[in-house]
Amino acid sequence: MSKILVTGGCGFIGSHTIVDLVENGYDVISIDNYSRSNALMLDSVEKIINKKIKNYPIDLCNYADTLNVFEQNNDIVGIIHFAAFKAVGESVEHPMMYYENNLISLVNILKCAKAFNVNNFVFSSSCTVYGSPEVIPVTELTPLKQAESPYGATKQMGEQIVKDNSAQNFKSILLRYFNPVGAHPSNHIGELPIGKPQNLIPAITQTAIGKLPQMKVWGNDYATKDGSCLRDYIHVCDIAHAHTLALNYLIQNRNNSTCSILNLGSGIGYTVLEVITMFEKVSGQKLNYTIGPRRNGDVEAIYANNQKAITELGWQCKYTLEDMMKTAWDWEKQIS
Ligand code: WQD
Repeated sequence: MSKILVTGGCGFIGSHTIVDLVENGYDVISIDNYSRSNALMLDSVEKIINKKIKNYPIDLCNYADTLNVFEQNNDIVGIIHFAAFKAVGESVEHPMMYYENNLISLVNILKCAKAFNVNNFVFSSSCTVYGSPEVIPVTELTPLKQAESPYGATKQMGEQIVKDNSAQNFKSILLRYFNPVGAHPSNHIGELPIGKPQNLIPAITQTAIGKLPQMKVWGNDYATKDGSCLRDYIHVCDIAHAHTLALNYLIQNRNNSTCSILNLGSGIGYTVLEVITMFEKVSGQKLNYTIGPRRNGDVEAIYANNQKAITELGWQCKYTLEDMMKTAWDWEKQIS
């Protein structure tokens, strides 16, 4: 079985991707220092795949420690690099922490990959690189805008670093996620936000379960159908399977450029209020929210043209918004 290194394997998308990789015949190891994840996540993954996944709890900003993982595993054929800080607001407060962590870890993993001839690299990027697009849906050719946060800047810089290091003997794919939400249908793994949730779906489910007294809808005066922001929500399992297909694509040399860029979105835009309405339908309960002021840095509307990922990877989204709300709600009830 081909061995894949997943960095950030104890995180939300990383853990779901490990499940999909193993279910599709890959052997997997993880590097995760638990700085933004839960050490028990791989125990939960084991309940789904009935297999133990080895995690190396080292800091990717430490080159020697990272190199040592490759020395112990000189049969790695591909890397999926998730490990990064990703809170927009926190990045504004602590820019240097974001540049240091997100960029040094990327440089180190790339240097090790080259040193050990690991020639298939998947980089976790984000729709945040598009900023506020003039035209939606966005395609991979949509011009990037000036990043609106240090977090977004690290994703833009990260893409450039990967692009500049790609070649015939080092192929890469940049996967631009839109809004990953939901939880694995087994209900063994899901999102574990640290502290007060910034993202919409955990805010909804924590309010509904009573962990939060009320949630705010940040703005209803945007130029959208109901005034609230529009986003492209995509189930985390659809995102996870796209990573498996991306590795297959690289390992089978089907890529037609040394660095491919793909949007991972459902291709459907929903407003915040539409998501809340769907949640209320799924949960059977009214959500306690009020309309608040606009949130700094929020994009009014963005959703993906995902045709390139569908065509090049043979990928297809399986989960609907209703599935996303149901699995997110089941998960919240399970962990609360
Ligand atoms: C969505 C909408 C909020 C919370 C996220 C990540 C970013 C990137 C893309 C990974 C916005 C509104 C939210 C709340 C609200 N992911 N909202 N009340 O901002 O699109 O970006 O996904 O790379 O890292 O931050 O997602 O879920 O924070 O917000 O009204 O309590 O929900 O204003 O319009 P966002 P989000």
